[in-house]
Amino acid sequence: MILCRTIAELKNELYSIKHSNDQATIGLVPTMGFLHEGHASLMRQSVAENIASVLSIFVNPMQFGPNEDFERYPRDEARDLAIAKENGIDIVFMPEVKEMYPSKPRTSVMISQLTERLCGASRPGHFDGVGLVVSKLFHLVQPDRAYFGMKDAQQLAVIQQMTDDLNIPVEIVPCPIVREPDGLALSSRNVYLSAEQRQQAVVLSQSLALAKQMVEEKGITPEELIARVKAKISEAGQAEIDYVEWLTYPSLELPAWNEPIADHSEKYILALAVKFGSTRLIDNALFVPNTRGE
Ligand code: PAF
Repeated sequence: MILCRTIAELKNELYSIKHSNDQATIGLVPTMGFLHEGHASLMRQSVAENIASVLSIFVNPMQFGPNEDFERYPRDEARDLAIAKENGIDIVFMPEVKEMYPSKPRTSVMISQLTERLCGASRPGHFDGVGLVVSKLFHLVQPDRAYFGMKDAQQLAVIQQMTDDLNIPVEIVPCPIVREPDGLALSSRNVYLSAEQRQQAVVLSQSLALAKQMVEEKGITPEELIARVKAKISEAGQAEIDYVEWLTYPSLELPAWNEPIADHSEKYILALAVKFGSTRLIDNALFVPNTRGE
């Protein structure tokens, strides 16, 4: 495994791979590090599907708001490198902020509409930062495939849209959410939770499971579903709901509010963002109501 801290080193390594095999396919797994089993599952899929796999580790300041956790975002370089190696990564690209942004960027990558709700509404500017860094990574690595987890389902929809709109020649590969045995979706931010918050955080996956049963109930509307999911989450004393939304997926539009869910055959997402103290967790599930939940 080769560690590249500069763009020049990365380009050299990619050139050698392409030069020795012009059919070589490249997989990219973009991350912000502090890797967990969710990231490892993306790496393994990339390694299985490509000749060479690049893991990028970069805590991107452009996607954090002024009062967010950029400074305290967890970092552990040695552990990340060991996990990358164990999972068969060929190149780790781990640049400093100055390498990615030698000066303040004057170009923005704004993806409209899809970013108006959910995390786009709670974290203004977040997806502009994601769009900018992911498009830079796509240009630098020129991967054939790029791997993203479904836990950030809105991010996945936004990146797919950007890739289509800009004709970036990369296949976006969605990968399933990886969970702890009790159902909590893996996230680098889970380390912020106190023992009690960690116990209560299981309410996110529990409320998605409850929603799966409710979606099959005759006559239930999005309005009722959301009210009942919110009530379930509120049973956890420390939970502070940021949003609970039922939207079409991947277009992220509002559904017919008062019509029974079971009458519809589009794909929907139930997306949750809940704060425990200062830690904000997200989770989601996809449904196709009249053919039973996914
Ligand atoms: O999902 C993430 O970890 C980040 O948003 C990404 C895609 C690596 C861009 O910084």
